Amino acid sequence: MYKPIVILGPMESESALLIQRLENRIEHPEGAFTFHEGMIDGWPAVICRTYIGVVNSAAAAALAIQKYDPLCVIIEGTSGAHNPALHQGDIVLGERLVHIGRFFTPHRDAGEGSNAFKWEPHGSEIATVDPDRETDVLHSDSRILTAAETVPYTGGRVLRGCIGAADIWNRELDMIAHLHQTLGTDCEEMEGFGVAQVCAMFRVPCADIRVISNSEWYPKEEFNEKYGEQCQMFVLEVIKRMIAEKTLL
Ligand code: 5AD
Repeated sequence: MYKPIVILGPMESESALLIQRLENRIEHPEGAFTFHEGMIDGWPAVICRTYIGVVNSAAAAALAIQKYDPLCVIIEGTSGAHNPALHQGDIVLGERLVHIGRFFTPHRDAGEGSNAFKWEPHGSEIATVDPDRETDVLHSDSRILTAAETVPYTGGRVLRGCIGAADIWNRELDMIAHLHQTLGTDCEEMEGFGVAQVCAMFRVPCADIRVISNSEWYPKEEFNEKYGEQCQMFVLEVIKRMIAEKTLL
């Protein structure tokens, strides 16, 4: 039997349409999650709503990898722009994935306050990637991103970029600009790096594909969950393309 493709979407508006599109769908409860098994164009696929955040999505990724030994794991959904050139509807293919919630702070005495601009980014220990060293950047599998680049999309631009993740929703433009300048982030969300870290741990190819659903740079570009649906439809086409072209086989 072929190995399944696992797709993770944090919110209902980032997973329900994909679940609906599965052929011969069966639900499998697994711990706190429900894995929806089925077929896309004759290929096995598993879709799971992970709920929001790094820990939830990493737990879902670990369970899915143990249960299904998947061909790959795709995490998808909405994100907020860091790069002012990006707008609602644009798709960022996560060529680089960074953690934007893991820092060492310089010492300050009592009463000296806090200055997040001085915090030093800190990598993650991933034993199977580089033992005894910290990994700062993870990558989506470039074969998946190449397949994604061939999918027609009318909702905006599709580009490779850097996606930051942490359990934070930044709305301070100076901080957004700082992360964009120092870490090179094009957008932020709350799951990608955690899922990629688990995938790296188990040596499973992964990809983070995100739509821009909001941008602090432009007051009119407030979060709108319709973009989560747009991202699901794009990712469905990516998966169909991967199946047709036997990407990863
Ligand atoms: N900052 C952080 N997370 C965001 N999300 C969408 N926009 C942002 C943003 N600007 C996504 C996260 C999480 C949910 C709150 O929406 O990935 O799943």
